[in-house]
Amino acid sequence: MSEVLEYKTVKTEEVTNWFKAASEDAFPANGGAAIEYKGLQIAVYNFTRRNEWYATQNLCPHKHQMILSRGMLGTEGEEPKVACPFHKKTFSLKNGTNLNGTECELATYPVKVEDGFVYVGFAD
Ligand code: FES
Repeated sequence: MSEVLEYKTVKTEEVTNWFKAASEDAFPANGGAAIEYKGLQIAVYNFTRRNEWYATQNLCPHKHQMILSRGMLGTEGEEPKVACPFHKKTFSLKNGTNLNGTECELATYPVKVEDGFVYVGFAD
């Protein structure tokens, strides 16, 4: 039986497993795609305008939709953010905070790109 995890933020220093997700070109410019790790859907974002990569849970905590990889990327002040396509709640890509001030927030994961491949960091 495979192990199923729960969404939980992983900081770079906590990573024990850099999971090889896919090649860089699997992630559209200024967009995202979902990957799966031990039963968890993770949204990985290729934020080309900022030359940055991010990963969060793919599940929007508002109405529990697996959708955030198809969210709109943007910047609020200095903060990179993703807006859920359903009700436009916005979340920080850096720490998952809900920028609309409500309580739900996202788990975030470190991302690195090496030799054209995208890796997402997990601690389990
Ligand atoms: S389901 Fe994402 S904002 Fe409502």
